[in-house]
Amino acid sequence: MITAEPEHKLRALKVGARDFVSKPLDLAEVLMRVYNMLEVRLLHATTTRLYNQVLAEQLVQKQLEQAVREAKEAAEVAEREHQRALLRAVEEPLGIVAKSTAMRQVVDLANRVAKVDATVLITGESGSGKERIARLVHDGSERANGPFVAVNCGAITETLLESELFGHARGAFTGATSARPGLFEAADQGTLLLDEVGEVSPSMQVKLLRVLQEREVRRVGENTSRKVDVRILAATNRDLTLGVASGSFRQDLFYRLKVVELHLPALRERRDDVLALARVFLDDASRRMKRTITSIAPDAAEHLLRFWWPGNVRELENAMERAVALARGDRVELDDLPDELRRLDASVRVGIDGVRPLKAIEKDYILDALERNGGNQTRTAEQLEIGSATLYRKLKSYGKIGGQQD
Ligand SMILES: Nc1ncnc2c1ncn2[C@@H]1O[C@H](COP(=O)(O)OP(=O)(O)O)[C@@H](O)[C@H]1O
Ligand SMILES: [Mg+2]
Repeated sequence: MITAEPEHKLRALKVGARDFVSKPLDLAEVLMRVYNMLEVRLLHATTTRLYNQVLAEQLVQKQLEQAVREAKEAAEVAEREHQRALLRAVEEPLGIVAKSTAMRQVVDLANRVAKVDATVLITGESGSGKERIARLVHDGSERANGPFVAVNCGAITETLLESELFGHARGAFTGATSARPGLFEAADQGTLLLDEVGEVSPSMQVKLLRVLQEREVRRVGENTSRKVDVRILAATNRDLTLGVASGSFRQDLFYRLKVVELHLPALRERRDDVLALARVFLDDASRRMKRTITSIAPDAAEHLLRFWWPGNVRELENAMERAVALARGDRVELDDLPDELRRLDASVRVGIDGVRPLKAIEKDYILDALERNGGNQTRTAEQLEIGSATLYRKLKSYGKIGGQQD
């Protein structure tokens, strides 16, 4: 502050004066002006500080939100990667065995359909190698570097299956504490195998059909859809045509799935594969159990070849694993095979109890055959290559029909 003439006032402004008083000085006026000025300054400083504080808080808030969002995304990605890694680690398969003509044809067809992105329905008895073939299709396809995800549709409840397949939003149901992508999303750029697809409920069939048509999924609890790029393979040990005929399986879904069908013959229908498979499983189990079992005794091999393998390749795999664990020397002996395999032809070999009457052996064999066919006489007679009247007569003489005893 300065006392001044007009030219002085201008100069004063230039050097930053805020106010002027003229001489003669009125002390009260000077004090009042100084006071006002200080008050304005104070107010200004306070608001600036408050303003900056609010800005800073907003910034921190934004950064926090961003960090939380990033952490969530990272967790989702990590979970997906984890799922993939798990699935891949569990599924890394052994080389595929296809010595029999029947199996060679299946593998050949699988290799050819692998190249096109078509949906494939894989049929065959339980344990016959459906999942193994699905894996072959994936590995031979352009999606080989993407994930291969398999889900057993028969093993879980419908609600659980839905959220497993499609994922869910946060809070979609009790326990859904965070949003999760489903297996369709996890299989993006890869292949999804819908195993036991014959077990899927009617309402779930509708949802699957929709995904197959639209190629997009909607997480449970969300109302927008997400595009997925997934090749669908389906497997079943059921005859789906029967399901379609009885109305339990949608015909439109059936045709969508069965663009190509790969049928795996039961192991008993391709005995040429048995010993080659046994060999592969023997080597694998020996390696895993750090044992050096190098061969299979001839009589054990004979039993493997003749068994009817109701559990197919999986049963053979288990039998070999068990044998490797039990073997005393460096060879699998008949003794090391499961009971039902060893019992196989006890009745047609001369055992330690000496030679048995032919009639007794015939009876054991016929009853065994009947049991294996679940009591179906027509089929049993066909397999034994005898007339059904003959079978009937024999069963009757064994006391299995009517009251007569042998
Ligand atoms: N041709 C094959 N060569 C080698 N291993 C096989 C073959 N077929 C099946 N397996 C093995 O047998 C087991 C059962 O096969 P899997 O594909 O799970 O049967 P499914 O899905 O029909 O029940 C798996 O361990 C699989 O790797
Ligand atoms: Mg399976």
